[in-house]
Parts: sequence; C-alpha cells; structure tokens
Amino acid sequence: MKKYKFQEQIINRSMNGIIACGMDEFIRIINPAAQEMFGYTAAQVVGKKKMKDLMPAGENERIVEALKSERYGGKDRINMIEAVMQSGKGHQIPVRVSATVMSDAGDDNGLLFCVRDLREMRRMEREMADQEKTLHQDKIMSLGKLAASVVHEINNPLSGILNYLRLMAKLLDKGQIVEKQDKFSSFLDIAISEISRCSDILSNLLTFSRKAPISYGPVQVKDLVERCVKISNHKFELQNIQLHVDIEDSIPNILADANQIQQCLINLMFNAMDAIDGPGQVWLTAGFDSGKQQVFIHVKDSGKGISQKVLPHIFEPFFSTKDEGHGVGLGLSTVYGIMRSHGGDIRVADTSEKGTCFVLEFNKLV
Ligand SMILES: Nc1ncnc2c1ncn2[C@@H]1O[C@H](COP(=O)(O)OP(=O)(O)O)[C@@H](O)[C@H]1O
Ligand SMILES: [Mg+2]
Repeated sequence: MKKYKFQEQIINRSMNGIIACGMDEFIRIINPAAQEMFGYTAAQVVGKKKMKDLMPAGENERIVEALKSERYGGKDRINMIEAVMQSGKGHQIPVRVSATVMSDAGDDNGLLFCVRDLREMRRMEREMADQEKTLHQDKIMSLGKLAASVVHEINNPLSGILNYLRLMAKLLDKGQIVEKQDKFSSFLDIAISEISRCSDILSNLLTFSRKAPISYGPVQVKDLVERCVKISNHKFELQNIQLHVDIEDSIPNILADANQIQQCLINLMFNAMDAIDGPGQVWLTAGFDSGKQQVFIHVKDSGKGISQKVLPHIFEPFFSTKDEGHGVGLGLSTVYGIMRSHGGDIRVADTSEKGTCFVLEFNKLV
C-alpha cells in the first residue's frame, strides 16, 4: 500500500505530463501536469478521450509509426521526439514526447507517454532572436555614423596615392627613373603604405559590419582597442577631439566574442564624442586589476557629464537625451546586454560637469 502511494505521488508530482492509455486507446491516467498543459480535468479525459484527441490531425499516426520503428529509441519505444499536441481550446502545443508500450508477462496492455511542454523554451528562443535583432540594429546605427568619416579617411590617402603615381609617371616620361631612382622608390613606398592603410581601415570596417555568429574565444585587449581606434580615428579628428590610448602591457586575454566587445567600445567612444561640444579629449585605458582578477577598459571623456536625473535611465533601451537622428538610445542597453552575457559588467565610474568615465569589467580571463 505504501509503495503504491509512493508511485502515485511520483506520477502526480511529475513536472512532465504523464498519460497512460489502455489497449482500446482510451486514456486511463492523466497526471495534473498534463491536465494543466491541455486544459482538461481528469474526469473530462479518462475513459472518454484517446491520445489522438489531444493532437492535431496526422500527428498521432506519426507517433504510432515512430513507436513501431526502431529508429527513435528501440522497438516499442520513442525517446524524446518533437511533436505538436493540442489543448482543449485548440491551441497547438510544441512538445517533446517519449513513449513506451507497456506489457505484462509478454502481453501488451497499453501505452505510456511522457510529455514535456516546450512553450517556455520556444519563448526564450524567440527572445534570444529578438536580442540578436536589437544588437544588429545598434550595429547598423554605428556603421552609419562611421561610414561618413571612413569615406574621408579613405579619400585623403587615395588622393595622396594618385599624386604620387602621377609624379612617378612624370619621372618615367622624362626618362629620369635611373637618375632619380631614390625619389621614385620613396614615392612607391608612400603609395604602398597608404594603400595598406586604406585596406586596413576597410577590412576592419567589414569585420565590424559582418553579422557573425557568436563565437567566444581568447581576445587580446590591445588588438581589440587598436582595431576600434583604426575605424574611428578620423571621426575623432573631424570633431577636433584628441584621443589618448594607454593600454597596459601583459594584460591577460579575455574570453569573449571579439566582435561584440568591439561593438561595446565603439558605442562608448561615440557617446564620448557626442558628450563633447567643440574640442576635447577622450582617454581609452585598459589594464588588469590583480586584486579583483579583472581586466578593465575605461572610456573617459571631457564632455558635459550625466545629470543625476538622467543617470538612472541610461541603460534602458530607447532612452536617449539626444535630438532625433542623433541617438535612438540603443547603445548603452546593447553594451549592458553584451557585458552581462559575457559575465562582465559596465558601470559609470565617474561623472561630473568635467566629463564621464565608463568602465567595462571582464571576469572571464584565459
Ligand atoms: N559619455 C557620456 N556623457 C554624457 N552622457 C552620456 C554618455 N554616454 C551616454 N550618455 C547618456 O546616456 C544616454 C543613452 O545613451 P545610449 O544608450 O548610447 O543612446 P544614444 O547615444 O542613442 O542616446 C544618452 O542619450 C546620454 O544622455
Ligand atoms: Mg549612444
């Protein structure tokens, strides 16, 4: 008796839906989890409904077929296949089903189903996809802002290269190559180095714009900061802002998705630029705090600061104090999301009318 009670408890308390049918296919047992999932009471189901009444057309046949075949966990068994079931109200429920034929002394006497509701998991998957969308949206915004300055940055070396090539052509025309070989090869050197600068900027921009799948790996902070500087350098120059970069040597590598962390830094650098009216300064520093075992990156600006009224809201999605067309308020919420998913953090370390300092903190080191 005691043992029977114990088994009954297991069925009744199971988080998964448990349904047992007799040989006549009618449901004999439906536990509370399954009752809740399908929106029926036991009295509405037991002896009155068959498994196929809880499924959209065709789905029951598919499961019976799977049970007969040996492909899904052996003969007379299926192990966690995905299926669709249907609630009393006609809502479709994505589930994972396991099933087995029950037998007693060799005689089949029924079917046992274990059903796991996948709705919550699907909801989380959708949420993840939404987050990815926001991330991408934020990136497109940054790219738009970068594009104009990158065009300038490419245009200058290109006209330089053109000039040098013309000079070289002139030397060639005049038959002075031998005589002025030094000059000729110095022009060539300049052209080569300017072209490689352009291609550097473009390939960095391309990497940044790529919608790459998330991939975690060891990231060298120095490299990462330098790449950000390369693609935003000219934007700082255009706004008459001096950029100071100071990266400690021998910082441990962080475990991160380089692309996403780059997106964080670009966002912070853009915000720093936006906070400065006229000439100003931005400091990018990175180092390792051995006490906290943390790698940190500071982005500090000489801008107008963040007021106490604004401060509590800055990480909210779509919060922006900027005019339309200048900000949609996705930057910091994106940075926050990325840092959290990296097991790290973003904080305002300091803000006053003399400027603001944001800190990125990384705890996963390699
Ligand atoms: N470095 C900064 N200095 C002053 N204010 C800032 C700074 N960074 C962010 N903010 C404030 O936080 C708000 C939200 O920033 P963000 O999420 O990047 O959106 P956006 O830049 O599109 O406005 C900004 O509108 C601004 O008011
Ligand atoms: Mg921003």
